[in-house]
Amino acid sequence: MTFIATFEAVVHAGGRVVVVDVDEDDACLDPARAAAAVGPNTRFLLPVHLYGQMADMRALGSLAAKHDLTIIEDACQAHGAARDGLGAGGAGAAAAFSFYPSKNLGAMGDAGALVLDDEDAAATARALREHGQTSTYHSDQVGMTSRLDTLQALVLLRKLPLLERWNAERAQAASFYAEALQGVGDLRLPARVAGARHVWHVYQVRTREPEALGAYLAGRGIGTKRHYPEPPHLSSAFAGLGHPAGSFPVAETIASETLSLPLFPGITEGQLAAVVDAVVDFFARG
Ligand SMILES: Cc1ncc(COP(=O)(O)O)c(C=O)c1O
Repeated sequence: MTFIATFEAVVHAGGRVVVVDVDEDDACLDPARAAAAVGPNTRFLLPVHLYGQMADMRALGSLAAKHDLTIIEDACQAHGAARDGLGAGGAGAAAAFSFYPSKNLGAMGDAGALVLDDEDAAATARALREHGQTSTYHSDQVGMTSRLDTLQALVLLRKLPLLERWNAERAQAASFYAEALQGVGDLRLPARVAGARHVWHVYQVRTREPEALGAYLAGRGIGTKRHYPEPPHLSSAFAGLGHPAGSFPVAETIASETLSLPLFPGITEGQLAAVVDAVVDFFARG
């Protein structure tokens, strides 16, 4: 259960995607299922900290240690998240952060960062992002153009000190929804994972009628989105993996039920209450 970019990254790195279903509660890579999927050629684990909720990195760390695997975190939705004393981006050998404008820390265009805890790997990454150059016009390997634009860096530097406050505002909004939407219709609200700091990139609810609820809210001037109605293994792009519908039932159920409600730093109580009222009205109309 992720944005398709996670799968693409594996392919672009020359790897083979081995798909593993997610956990019912946190919607992140399920450590038990991951353990069952490890084979003789497995080299990496690629957990996604989905919606701002960190995967169970303690369990995944033990699994990685047991099989000598390298963990690369997809922390693209999890700036500032933590779980069991580990921070997103600090729990694996490497992590990717996206600064796409809608992210908790967003640039004004495309941008991202790679976090590494190894100097040699960092030097390789720095070279790869700039055509493999280790010094001007000298390249040891085939790289790419993947520099962080200076203008975007300036925007990010100004926004970075605000991240904690914005994450706190997101958490406040999530608490408002959690209280006000408890027991409304067939809604299933995001699980609170003990020992976790969720940063609420997305406030995702589940219902058997996500499309109808989304359309109803749109009629009241309230925007929603679905993250993600098509899990990557069911996309045409990854049909070659050979996973028909039914292969990963937890992810597929989430995909069929998911709806994300408005949540952003600065959202007012009035706006949150308007969303709640509209959701309540939707389920009350029978
Ligand atoms: C989970 C996840 N992984 C990867 C990406 C890719 O990030 P970008 O679009 O900045 O390349 C995104 C967001 O776009 C994402 O949400």
